[in-house]
Amino acid sequence: MVYNLKGCMACHKTDGTSEIGPAFNNIYGSKVNVKEDGNAKEMVVDDDYITMSIREPQKQIVVGFEKTPMAQMNLTDNEIKQVISYIKSLK
Ligand code: HEC
Repeated sequence: MVYNLKGCMACHKTDGTSEIGPAFNNIYGSKVNVKEDGNAKEMVVDDDYITMSIREPQKQIVVGFEKTPMAQMNLTDNEIKQVISYIKSLK
């Protein structure tokens, strides 16, 4: 599974506890507060948002997780699709 393979686990948990990054369970469809160029914004977690979070992790930073930057992960479009369906499946 991409999620395990690519090391997302190192920073993201799926049981609701935050490690270095936000937990993945229950985030799909939820609203998150992010900062883009220092401006606060509210985003809905959907396919586009997740894709952007992976492709350009530094563009929008989730409020409360500013301390450690997310690593640039090189995923193919197909791997990103798999990660999105995985995140969707988490309750
Ligand atoms: C080095 C630690 C690290 C790794 C590895 C990592 N992330 Fe992250 N991730 C973060 C941090 C920190 C944030 C919050 C700050 C931000 O938005 O950049 C984040 C934010 C996110 C968000 C936005 C979450 C939200 O609640 O809005 C998504 C989606 C995401 N990561 C997906 C992934 C995926 C998929 C992988 C594996 C391919 C991955 N991350 C690997 C640290 C990491």
